[in-house]
Amino acid sequence: QIETVSAQEILDSRGNPTIHVTVSLTNGVIGQAAVPSGASTGENEAVELRDGDKNRFGGKGVLKAIAAVEGEIASAVAGLSALDQAAIDGAMIALDGTPNKTRLGANAILGVSMAAARVAASSLGLPLWSWLGGCGARRLPMPMMNVINGGAHADNGLDMQEFMIVPVGASSFAEAVRFASETFHALKALLHERGLSVSVGDEGGFAPRLSGNDQACEVIVEAIEKAGYEPGKDIAIALDPAANSMWRDGHYELRGAKMLTSNDMTALYGRWIDRFPIISIEDGLAEHDWEGFAAHTAALGDRVQVVGDDLYVTNVQYIETGIRRKATNAVLIKLNQIGTVTETIAAVDVCRSAGWGYVISHRSGETEDAFIADFAVAMGGGQIKAGAPSRGERTAKYNRLMAIERALGDSALFANPFASRGSGE
Ligand code: PGA
Ligand code: ZN
Repeated sequence: QIETVSAQEILDSRGNPTIHVTVSLTNGVIGQAAVPSGASTGENEAVELRDGDKNRFGGKGVLKAIAAVEGEIASAVAGLSALDQAAIDGAMIALDGTPNKTRLGANAILGVSMAAARVAASSLGLPLWSWLGGCGARRLPMPMMNVINGGAHADNGLDMQEFMIVPVGASSFAEAVRFASETFHALKALLHERGLSVSVGDEGGFAPRLSGNDQACEVIVEAIEKAGYEPGKDIAIALDPAANSMWRDGHYELRGAKMLTSNDMTALYGRWIDRFPIISIEDGLAEHDWEGFAAHTAALGDRVQVVGDDLYVTNVQYIETGIRRKATNAVLIKLNQIGTVTETIAAVDVCRSAGWGYVISHRSGETEDAFIADFAVAMGGGQIKAGAPSRGERTAKYNRLMAIERALGDSALFANPFASRGSGE
């Protein structure tokens, strides 16, 4: 039974305040969790409650969310069984009473939801992945690792937000991390040789001033080769253009190419898929462009995984619309877009029943908390996106996954989720 709930203001990886929650049970067991925060957020995401008091953290303080946790939420969940995640989350949703968790804050609610899952696992003596995933959970996710940052995550003038490597040829999670790390360092050396910056963006990828978006793909292919791997076969490329940020008045605006239509954008990606070993494209179009997305997926969906992030915001209602409209064929899953563990699992369930892929994802503002590592194994979809193989808040997730793989021993499963699609070449 839950006895007390407390919260504290801590810093995220961008140095902004976020919320850290502790749930204590009557038997003395505690569970803790920290909430991440996005920068290129979807319009319909659950609301992150910030104080707005310019005298503290430029208005970004989370004391109101903490007050909600320690006041109303603590009273509402006290006495509930920590093992009943749905009841805890349901009580908070009802207490909040708004569609987007605007009253209490999705950050407040999610912190309690995640900490409750942790305390339940601890009280049963189970690791989190096993508690949330059941005894069948044994699949490690294929990582998509962001090695070049642009868009809202860097100030290098690159339009597209994320250029990721996917070690599809690795035979274990630990090997995937090694493939990615070696490629990351080969890329660093290449950028350095060319006099380009090797400082990193919000998600740990490099943020060089390249002259065009396609140059990011070019240099990544070179880095893969330089590291001794075969592009496409050993290591493929995934993109998150986060096209919301290129959307202006019904058109897409890229450096040097103004006023592109959705069809122009889709054609551009098509040409890139011809040239580079791309296997997945997330948010290739903007979140309002439902019609564009249907055409985009009809054109590219057989060649690559088409992932919706801002379009769905991990909300069952929008994912169901996407399935009906064949808008994409996969979904990005972020706990803080919707605000409870229960609703996030419901979003995954909808993807599974549609036969769609789903990628468990971090946010650009992260903490040391590796909750999503356990969550990815529990959900079993075989895909995670957690940033570069560098920076502590990113490596916390990958290191945790290597520990889970080791704990699983012979029963660990690591399979390439893209095998049935071909390498994308
Ligand atoms: P965000 O970006 O966490 O800044 O929203 C991540 C993404 O777009 O996938
Ligand atoms: Zn995204």
